[in-house]
Amino acid sequence: MRIILLGAPGAGKGTVAKLLSQIDGSVHISTGDILRAAIKEGTELGMKAKAYMERGDLVPDELVMLMMEDRLRRPDTDKGFILDGFPRTIPQAEALEGLLKRLGKELDFVANLEVEREVIIDRLTTRRTCSNPDCQEIYNVKSNPPLPDGTCRKCGSPTVQREDETEEAIANRLATYQAKTAPLIDYYARKGLLKNYRSVSSAETVEAVKRDLTLRP
Ligand code: AP5
Repeated sequence: MRIILLGAPGAGKGTVAKLLSQIDGSVHISTGDILRAAIKEGTELGMKAKAYMERGDLVPDELVMLMMEDRLRRPDTDKGFILDGFPRTIPQAEALEGLLKRLGKELDFVANLEVEREVIIDRLTTRRTCSNPDCQEIYNVKSNPPLPDGTCRKCGSPTVQREDETEEAIANRLATYQAKTAPLIDYYARKGLLKNYRSVSSAETVEAVKRDLTLRP
């Protein structure tokens, strides 16, 4: 499959992407995960991105496009890809369109996860993420907790709260989403590529996306 997952911070993009990638081996590409790994490794990209991310601002389009051009050219994307957190601005969407044309790859569709603001805030403040960069399993202390001692059920590493999960950064991320990313909903609707999903559970969303993939022309 070749899909984009759109949705506000905390809408469940990462959770749904991980489940979708298990269906046919399509790679889950999360720009947030790549950037967090770059910060941890102290690369030039990571050093440039750090302050933007901690504030809940977007990393500049030019940096994100360089990183994504490199990622989408890797051979593992031939099996398919699920883009999580990218594109996030109209210029990124336009650049992606040009890049996919050059690579001879076409999108199936754009899945927009619709979740109410109160639910999002609740989910973000209760999320825990595995600290092992090769695992990064996503948990939620209410709906899907890690082990009682706070370690990851998959790999045993400690789970942590992300650095952009302060109340201030969450509010900024939501405002940035409204201003910069929500316009992509109309952008992709006009191209006839948008599908909206309003399911309560991630498993239901995955089933609905699977149905739409089999129904696509
Ligand atoms: P990024 O890592 O992409 O964060 P985000 O978009 O803010 O999204 P999240 O990862 O917070 O949420 P999610 O929708 O994946 O939800 P999740 O599945 O974890 O970006 C971080 C930062 O990086 C940005 O602020 C920016 O600075 C930078 N960046 C990244 N991409 C960029 C780009 N393209 N351009 C510029 N800058 C970029 O779920 C959330 C919680 O809810 C979890 O606890 C989960 O267990 C729970 N949950 C999920 N689904 C359900 C459900 N159905 N029911 C109950 N609980 C659920």
